[in-house]
Amino acid sequence: MSLLLSIESSCDDSSIAVTDIQSYKLLFHKKLSQEDKHSQYGGVVPELASRLHAVALPQLLDNVLEYLPNISAVAVTTKPGLSVTLNEGVMMAKTLSVLKNIPIIPIHHLKGHIYSLFIEKETKFPMLILLISGGHTMLIRADSLNNMHILATSMDDSVGESFDKVAKMLGEGYPGGPIVERLATQGDSRKYPMPIPLRNSPLIAFSLSGLKNAVRVQIERLGGVEKLTYQDKCDISASFQQAVIEHLLQKSKKVFATQSIKEFAIVGGAAANKAIKSSFNALCNTFGKRLHTVKMEYCSDNAAMIGRCGIDALKNGLVEEAENIKVGASCKLQSGDKL
Ligand code: KG4
Ligand code: ZN
Repeated sequence: MSLLLSIESSCDDSSIAVTDIQSYKLLFHKKLSQEDKHSQYGGVVPELASRLHAVALPQLLDNVLEYLPNISAVAVTTKPGLSVTLNEGVMMAKTLSVLKNIPIIPIHHLKGHIYSLFIEKETKFPMLILLISGGHTMLIRADSLNNMHILATSMDDSVGESFDKVAKMLGEGYPGGPIVERLATQGDSRKYPMPIPLRNSPLIAFSLSGLKNAVRVQIERLGGVEKLTYQDKCDISASFQQAVIEHLLQKSKKVFATQSIKEFAIVGGAAANKAIKSSFNALCNTFGKRLHTVKMEYCSDNAAMIGRCGIDALKNGLVEEAENIKVGASCKLQSGDKL
């Protein structure tokens, strides 16, 4: 039996997985989230995240000791992400690589999110993908592991980030996505209509920061966050979420018109949002696309997706010696770039 150990530490989730290289079967997967530790600061504090990874990753490794003799490669997220947290995973991967004399497979975190669609499954390329996470918002055309191109990206905030900022403005915790989604289910999305970003622009791009400002103005109009009733928070959340959805649908429609690919998927932390998923389900039906979604547990950062991506990278010979592995941190990705 030949197994792959995978490690994810690009932000605030420490995660380790073990996958069977031949069958893609996930033998072990666990993640320790730091969300509650960062919650009081309203966002991720990199140095704190790094220290927490340094404690969590060895604890997770303790769970997979029985598999170690059969591990023949280690896949690790090397970019993009917070350099101080990426380093924690990379150091563990390097140590295992040297001790066991096995290769390292460096994984691009965004490709990892795309492979969250294929955990314990075969890939389904070519595919159009809407990636909505805390760090990124983009439409991608993926033809194979080594042939993925960005068709549109955000000019400012990402979808997840905008949900996080709105939750913070409403005096709620972190991460904001699930909180705002829950409030929105009890709100009226027509109560405080928000401007749809880039509505009249031919640009195939995303922009979320104006919408965040519209929420801020609305809160001020109601007398500030202290004056908001629970129902106000629900109505603001519903109105904001609806504007995000309209924006994502409008720009995706433009891409659908130019790409004949039938398969379409939504991935990333914000892909857990049920309202976003059901709106895209309707859009895909209209355009004759087949919608692929990610299992809830694999939407946010996890090592299972890194492992699945690692298997394809291994099969493509994309392995490195420990001394050649470098951390990439944040990279400015634009429309037209290869992923
Ligand atoms: O993919 P992810 O775990 O980390 C990054 O790679 O960035 O995404 C985390 C982001 C956070 O901003 C979080 O608020 C957002 O995903 N998120 C959601 C939902 N669940 C998580 N956003 C909208 N609706 C949700 N239900
Ligand atoms: Zn992510």
